[in-house]
Amino acid sequence: MSEIKALDIKEDDTVVCITGSGGRTLNLLTSGPKEIISVDFNPIQNWMLELKINAVKNLDYDTYCGFLGLRPCKNRDQIFDRISAGLSDETSKFWCENIRLIKKGILYQGEFERHYRICSVFIKLFRYRKVKKLFSFCDLNEQIKFYHKEWDNKFWNFMVSLDSSGSNFERSMKDPAFYMYTHKDFDYQKFFHDSFQKAIMTGLACDNHFLGLTIDGSYKRVRTLPLYLQRDKFDILKANIDRIKIVTDSLESFLKKMADCSIDKYSISDVSGYLDDGQYQAIFHEIIRTAKDQAVFCCRNFIVQKEVPEVFKPYIIRNTELEKELEHTDLAFVYTFVTGQILREKTLQSVKGTLKNV
Ligand SMILES: C[S@@+](CC[C@H](N)C(=O)[O-])C[C@H]1O[C@@H](n2cnc3c(N)ncnc32)[C@H](O)[C@@H]1O
Repeated sequence: MSEIKALDIKEDDTVVCITGSGGRTLNLLTSGPKEIISVDFNPIQNWMLELKINAVKNLDYDTYCGFLGLRPCKNRDQIFDRISAGLSDETSKFWCENIRLIKKGILYQGEFERHYRICSVFIKLFRYRKVKKLFSFCDLNEQIKFYHKEWDNKFWNFMVSLDSSGSNFERSMKDPAFYMYTHKDFDYQKFFHDSFQKAIMTGLACDNHFLGLTIDGSYKRVRTLPLYLQRDKFDILKANIDRIKIVTDSLESFLKKMADCSIDKYSISDVSGYLDDGQYQAIFHEIIRTAKDQAVFCCRNFIVQKEVPEVFKPYIIRNTELEKELEHTDLAFVYTFVTGQILREKTLQSVKGTLKNV
C-alpha cells in the first residue's frame, strides 16, 4: 500500500489519517504505530470504521470475512447483535436502522463500491468470459497482449464513455470530490481509459483488488486482498485495534485543536478534491505547525491535482522520485501523489512569523 511505503511508520508514531471507508486506517494499523487518529467530517464513514473495529475485536478471521461480505454468510444480522454491545450509541442506532446494509455485507455498500458493482454487472453481461480471463493471467506480457487484442476495442471505449460522461458520473457517484473543483472540460473518458490501461500494463489484474472492485464488482477473483482483509495480518490488527481514535470533524478544525509538534505522520488521502485553494493552504499551515521534526505526509490527488502551497514549499522536502513510483505502482490506478518531509527546525526558527500571516 502506497501510504505504508511513503510514511514508513514506526512504533512510536502518532499518525493522523482520513477515515474514508475505514480501510486505510486499518491498513495503516498493520504497521503498528503507537496511535492512529482517524478523522472524517462525514460521521457515516466513522460509523463504518467503528463497526469494522468492533468486528476485528470480537470475531475470528473467518467470521469477520463473512460478516463484512468478503464471503457468503447467512447470519450477518445475528453476528451484528453479538458485536453491537461495544458500539457507541449513535453508531449502534445508525446500524440498527440500516441493518439491510449489514445483511448484504458492508464491504460493498459504499457509494463508490455500489457504483462499480452496477457497472460490473453491465460489463459482465457483455463480456463475462473476458472478465474471467483478465483475472486469470499469471504472466504480465500475456495480460498486455490480451488487453490490446481483445479488451481495448470500441465496446470498451463505449462502456468507459457511458460511465464517465460528466453528468452520469456526478449523478451516480454523489461524492463531490469527483467533480466539485474539476474543470468543466475535463476529459473523464480519456482519464479513466488511460488510468485503467496503466493498471493493466503495470501489474497482474489478479493481484489488484481495486481492479477486482471496479471491473468485477468484488474481490472474488483477486488473490491479493487489502491488508486489513488478509488472514496473516488479522492477529496484528486484533493486537493493535485499541490504538485507533476516531474523530468526527473537518481535518482543518481537528488539526487546529492539536498541540504544536505533536504528530509524526499524515495520511490525508484525497481530500484535495473537496477543498478550494484557501482551505488546502489552511490544512498545510496546520500540518506544518503540528508536525514533529521530520514528520512525513502523504496526499493523494484524484482528478483535481493540487501542489504543496507555494508559501510552504521552503519548509518541506518533497520526495518526487517516490511520488512517481507510487503513481506508477498504486493499485488504485487513478491517483497521483504528493509526499514529503517537514523541516521542523527551520519551521520553528523562521516560519512562525510567516505562518501567522498566511
Ligand atoms: C473519497 S473518500 C476516500 C475514500 C476511499 N475509499 C479512501 O479511503 O481513500 C475521502 C474521504 O475524505 C473525507 N473528507 C474530505 N474532506 C475532508 C476534510 N476536509 N476533513 C475531513 N474529512 C474529509 C470524506 O468525507 C471522505 O470520507
